[in-house]
Amino acid sequence: MNFIYLDHNATTPIFPETQKFMGAHLDIFGNPSSIHWAGRKSKALIRESRISIAQFLKVSPLEIIFSSGASEASNTVIKTTFLHSLKKHFMCSTVEHPSVIKTMQYIQSLGAKVDFIPVSREGLIDLEFYKKNLTTETALVSVMLANNETGSLFPIQEMAQMAHAKGALFHTDAVQALGKHVFSLIELGVDYASFSAHKFYAMKGSGILYSKKGAPQISLIHGGAQERHRRGGTENLLGLASFGEVARQVIEKGGIDFIQKKSEEIKILRDHLENRILKEISHVKLTASENPRLTNTSSLILDQVDGETLLMNLDIKGYAVSTGAACSSGNPEPSPVLLAMGLTREEAQTSLRISLGWENSLKEVDQFIDDLKISVQKIRDIANSPYKFDLKLMSPVGEV
Ligand SMILES: Cc1ncc(COP(=O)(O)O)c(C=O)c1O
Repeated sequence: MNFIYLDHNATTPIFPETQKFMGAHLDIFGNPSSIHWAGRKSKALIRESRISIAQFLKVSPLEIIFSSGASEASNTVIKTTFLHSLKKHFMCSTVEHPSVIKTMQYIQSLGAKVDFIPVSREGLIDLEFYKKNLTTETALVSVMLANNETGSLFPIQEMAQMAHAKGALFHTDAVQALGKHVFSLIELGVDYASFSAHKFYAMKGSGILYSKKGAPQISLIHGGAQERHRRGGTENLLGLASFGEVARQVIEKGGIDFIQKKSEEIKILRDHLENRILKEISHVKLTASENPRLTNTSSLILDQVDGETLLMNLDIKGYAVSTGAACSSGNPEPSPVLLAMGLTREEAQTSLRISLGWENSLKEVDQFIDDLKISVQKIRDIANSPYKFDLKLMSPVGEV
C-alpha cells in the first residue's frame, strides 16, 4: 500500500538528513553532567543543539531552556507564575491546546481568576474582550501563535504589547508555527514561548521554553543543576540533538528563507486541495479560512459525513489525516476547539483536518482528493440508505 501522511499538525516525520545524523550519534551515551570524556561528548552535543536552535530563532542560547516538550514548557510558565506572582489574574484563549487550557483550569481550582478569551467562528480572537478584562492585576496572558486545528494565526505582537502596558507577562504556545510560518520572537515581543521538537521534523519527547532575558525564570522540576538550575533532570540527549540538527539543516538551507519557500510551496498545494474539494464535493465548508492562517492547514466540515468513520475509511486506503486534535484521539467527543469557536456538535463531528508538510507533493494531494471523494460518497450513501448501518463498523446493525 502507498502510505500518504497528511497529519503534520499532529506530528512530523523525522527529517531525512536528521535521521542520518541520529544514526551516526547513537553511540554517544555519557551523562552530560559527568566531567569525564563520555559526559563531555554528550555535553558538547547538547551545547551544539542549543546554539543551532538559538541561531535559528535569533535569540541568545541562554534564553533557551530544554524540556521534555511544549506541554512541560507551558506548564512551567503558568504554574510558576501562579506560585510566585503576587497577582492572581490570568488570561488565555478558549482554543488553546489542553496543555494551556487544563493548566489554567488547574490554577483556577487553586484560586486564580482566569478569563478565557473567546474566538469567533471565523477564527478571530475577541480583542475587545481582551482589552476589557486585561488589568494591572493580570499576572500572565497565554495565547497561541497558531492554532493546531484550524491553523488560525493570532495577533501576538499586538496582544503582547497590550499585556506589557498593564504590567503583565506574555506567553505564546508557538508549537504549530515552528517550521510552517515565518515569525520573529524578538518582533513578537513575548516573554515566553513553548516549542516542541516533534512538530519540527525532530524526535518526540523534547522541546524548549524560550524565556526572554529579564523574564522570571523559575524551575518547575527541581533536581539537578541542569539548564542552569532552571530544569532539573538528565537531558533527553538524542531528542535534543535531533532538534538542534533540524535547526542546523534549516539554517544551512537558507534559514527563514527556506521556511518562507516551504510555506509558499505548501500554500499552493493547500489551495489546490481546497479548490478541488469545494468544486468536486458538495456540501463542504471551510473553517476559519477568511482570516490569517497557517498555509499548511485545512479544516473542513463535510455534511453528513461522520469524521471518525471518514478517518478510518481513509486510513484503510493508506492516508493519515485527523478529525480534531490527535492528542485527544480515542476520545469520541467532538473537538473542543471547534465547539469553542461556535460550531455545533454535529458540525464538529463532521470535521476533517488535513495538515500538509515539507515532503508532500501535488501527486499525493491529487490522489488523496480522488479517494476522499469516493469515501465521502460511500459514507453519505450509507447515511441516506433506508437500512440502518453502524457507520463505524460499516456493517448492518439492528433491524433491517
Ligand atoms: C499547539 C500545541 N501545543 C502544545 C502541544 C504539546 O506539545 P508536546 O507534545 O511537545 O508536549 C501540541 C501537540 O499536539 C500542540 O499542537
